[in-house]
Amino acid sequence: MSTRIRAAKLLIKTGRFIQSAAVAIMRPQDLIEFSRQYYLKQDNVQGWSDAQLVNSGLSTLERSLLNKTGANHGRLLLLGVGGGREAISLAKLGFEVTGIDFIPQMVERAEANARKNGVGIVGLVQEISQLDMPENAYDIVWLSAAMYSCVPTRKRRGDMLKRIHNTLRPGGYFLCGFLWNPRVDVSSKIVFLKKLIAWLTLGNFHYEKGDMLRFNLEFIHAFTAHKELKAEIIQGGFELIDIQANDENEFAGVIARKPF
Ligand SMILES: C[S@@+](CC[C@H](N)C(=O)[O-])C[C@H]1O[C@@H](n2cnc3c(N)ncnc32)[C@H](O)[C@@H]1O
Repeated sequence: MSTRIRAAKLLIKTGRFIQSAAVAIMRPQDLIEFSRQYYLKQDNVQGWSDAQLVNSGLSTLERSLLNKTGANHGRLLLLGVGGGREAISLAKLGFEVTGIDFIPQMVERAEANARKNGVGIVGLVQEISQLDMPENAYDIVWLSAAMYSCVPTRKRRGDMLKRIHNTLRPGGYFLCGFLWNPRVDVSSKIVFLKKLIAWLTLGNFHYEKGDMLRFNLEFIHAFTAHKELKAEIIQGGFELIDIQANDENEFAGVIARKPF
């Protein structure tokens, strides 16, 4: 291979690395704000409240997670409501749904879409890692559409699990969507370099393998091993019932329960 071709390939690789290091220089709060600015865009609000998407209902994975609980009514807290896709289906099934989102316009659209569909949901504007809901208030808490992966750092996810645990009644179910990618191809050298960049820039000291800015638009932590997720859920005080993760599909889910 000619020296010029080698140099060109090195430049491309370096460019990719520099771009991917953006995730390490932001602190956890910046990462959440980075995602918030993305979802706040008019196109995004429009996209997630589009009638075709909203009327598409629950995905196969979502139906499978719900079926595993055997529940068909009760108070259900949905985190990451968007334009109301899951919330409306769940309200039609008979659940009393409260939907949370950090974008006020998404919450408004979800409520309006629910009315159009002849059901009512309650919408609240909150950031899910700082969830502030009453104790023992819900039969089911659902972190929909891979939302568990939207929260940066294991510590912050742990704090969120405590808040979710607190608002679930004893015996209540926790359905947790996350992004699954066992093939995340990051060598330990790259992880070390990103950690170094985080420290040098006083950025995300808790950068971990699987952290990325997905399509350079929003923060995501992709889980690469069952044991990683299992440990977080159990540490959060939940009894793990099932992990539904398929290597062909990046959307995966956990069914867990708050012990009686
Ligand atoms: C991928 S969209 C999914 C919307 C809806 N669940 C669906 O599947 O149609 C994620 C939604 O979660 C919201 N969201 C993302 N991160 C959040 C956070 N940290 N706190 C609250 N809402 C968040 C976004 O504003 C967006 O509406």
